[in-house]
Amino acid sequence: MAKARSAKRRRRSKTAQSRRRSRGAGNGSGRDDAVGLLKSDHREVERLFGAFESTRSHERKQEIATQICEALKAHTTIEEEIFYPAFLEATEDTEIHHEAEIEHEGAKHLIQEIESAGPDDDHFEARVTVLQEMIRHHVKEEEQRGGMFSKAQSSDMDLAELGRQMRDRKLELMGDASDDLSTSGRRPPAQGRMRRSSREVRER
Ligand SMILES: [Fe+2]
Ligand SMILES: [Fe+2]
Repeated sequence: MAKARSAKRRRRSKTAQSRRRSRGAGNGSGRDDAVGLLKSDHREVERLFGAFESTRSHERKQEIATQICEALKAHTTIEEEIFYPAFLEATEDTEIHHEAEIEHEGAKHLIQEIESAGPDDDHFEARVTVLQEMIRHHVKEEEQRGGMFSKAQSSDMDLAELGRQMRDRKLELMGDASDDLSTSGRRPPAQGRMRRSSREVRER
């Protein structure tokens, strides 16, 4: 009898938990919105850089570097095409916006070098390490108090809608990347592909 009552209580509290969860997910803020999506990209790239540092296998380092480059290209593209223009329009903060764009340029240049270098490039590890330092600095600038993300959160940007747009665009970009890899068996030239993607979006 007591057993049946406590099973009933457990069922009731599980239902309340799932009700709370669905209410939270539906309000368009937090983990699922634009800032939540971009921050989770940042954590994923940090995880990959950590894996790069901790493996000794040169082959594995090459694989992880490819994953880092793909993740960063998709991330910088959704920021440049969707989040940054919306941020500039809402806040008119040219200083934060332009600085972020210039930092992206530097990172993309290095990504291109990493992708086009052969496996015997003796600067390979140094390039990935410098990329890691650049990204660490850039992520701090975006996430710190008074930085781009916190300013976006206190502006009237529709972060829920921007999150949806960026999630769709990212799926498209990641799909392109895996198509390129599976059809050619080789890595595509990074910047050319990203420039093409940006043009396609503008033409829509
Ligand atoms: Fe970012
Ligand atoms: Fe960024």
